[in-house]
Amino acid sequence: MADKKRSSFGSRFGTIAVLAGSAVGLGNIWKFPYMAGENGGAAFILIYLIVSLLIAVPVLLAEYALGRRGQSNIFGAFRNLAPKQKGWHAVGLTGVVTAFLILSFYAVIAGWSLYFLWESVTGSYMGMSAQQIGAKFDTFVEGGWGPAIWALIFLVMTGGVLLLGVNKGIERCSKMMMPMLVVMLVALAVGACFMDGWREGMRFLLRPDWSKVTTSTVIAALGQAFFSLSLGMGAMATYGSYIDKKENLYGVASTVAVADTAVALLAGLAIFPVVFTYGISPTAGPELVFITLPSLFAQMPGGAVVAAVFFLLLFFAAITSAFSMMEVVVAYLSEEFGMSRTKAMWLSLGGLLVLAMLCVASQLPDSVLTIGGKNLLDFLDTFTSNVLLPLSGLSIVIFMAWVLGRKALADELTTGGRYARRLVGPTIFLLRYVVPLMMVVLILNLLGVL
Ligand code: TRP
Repeated sequence: MADKKRSSFGSRFGTIAVLAGSAVGLGNIWKFPYMAGENGGAAFILIYLIVSLLIAVPVLLAEYALGRRGQSNIFGAFRNLAPKQKGWHAVGLTGVVTAFLILSFYAVIAGWSLYFLWESVTGSYMGMSAQQIGAKFDTFVEGGWGPAIWALIFLVMTGGVLLLGVNKGIERCSKMMMPMLVVMLVALAVGACFMDGWREGMRFLLRPDWSKVTTSTVIAALGQAFFSLSLGMGAMATYGSYIDKKENLYGVASTVAVADTAVALLAGLAIFPVVFTYGISPTAGPELVFITLPSLFAQMPGGAVVAAVFFLLLFFAAITSAFSMMEVVVAYLSEEFGMSRTKAMWLSLGGLLVLAMLCVASQLPDSVLTIGGKNLLDFLDTFTSNVLLPLSGLSIVIFMAWVLGRKALADELTTGGRYARRLVGPTIFLLRYVVPLMMVVLILNLLGVL
């Protein structure tokens, strides 16, 4: 329970690896590069950096501070900090539900990466055309059994790591996987320099084009920064509760944000030269990762190796993010209901499997599992990222900036007055006024009102 001694991350490097592991995910690889390219290249990147600095990083700090102050899972953190105000406990509960829902479909997509990793290692699609690979992918998704089994494998691996605990499981794995991910990505980006399409790829990703920048670009950059830093569901707060009491939160948050953006940019440097070398127009999302890129790998000399490296990297990115989502649920169940972590893990795993299987089933042809014209997987994706994440993100910010009290917030942000004393004033100003305003704009925009 809350008064038991909690684990905390063992070292600075471990802390960064775990937190960056959560932030670096599918969003960095299949969404950011394309968004940047489509929305004005370097101009978009500059806006993204400003929005990250002024909005997303303060929210990240607020979430870390919430977790570290509350010394508990996201629900318990609210309960510890505002024992009598039950409404805030509901915000914590929403975070747990959101994490659960997101992980159930994230696991399905991560399962696709595992499938492609397997297919790349066995070389089974080498030489195939884009059309053949597209058909292969459709058959796989619509077959049902394949995606179900790979999602199951992914969730069992995630649960297995959580069972080993915060230090021996999550931290140790992240410390191995994140450096490997960076090395693989750098290798791919360096290799891409030698491809014919390099110049064109760089031009697409980087050439500043201010004419493409509008208000909606700024909102899009904000949404992406928010998603990419894993904000809004209490994952960062849950992890925040494991950050050492002496650690400088500003140092941690800025390192994580820089690493997250660097990985997103590197992914663009690795991907677009390949795309342009073969004269294909760039896309984003599942199509880029599971059809376009595999079909290019299939034509490249040495493509099987490149493909295997790419999908292993994608798998590392996905599973380190999955740790943080499942930890939200496991920490909640074990701390709030006094069950062992093992029992909490099995319970979450069971629930996640059921929902993941429903997501898989919703993608079969003629499936009846649709909500508002969308299959269950797409519905959960849109509903969580457009409604639940921003709303609970906004609630967390309001709680930290207005309810907790300025003294407690400043004390936690500065680690008891040790660090960043001059930054805390501006941070609290941003959290009180600028961030909530921008978040409301974002929410209205996501809901289609603005
Ligand atoms: N940041 C992850 C990515 O870029 C995705 C994500 C969003 C996430 N919210 C999260 C991961 C919460 C873990 C926890 O793909």
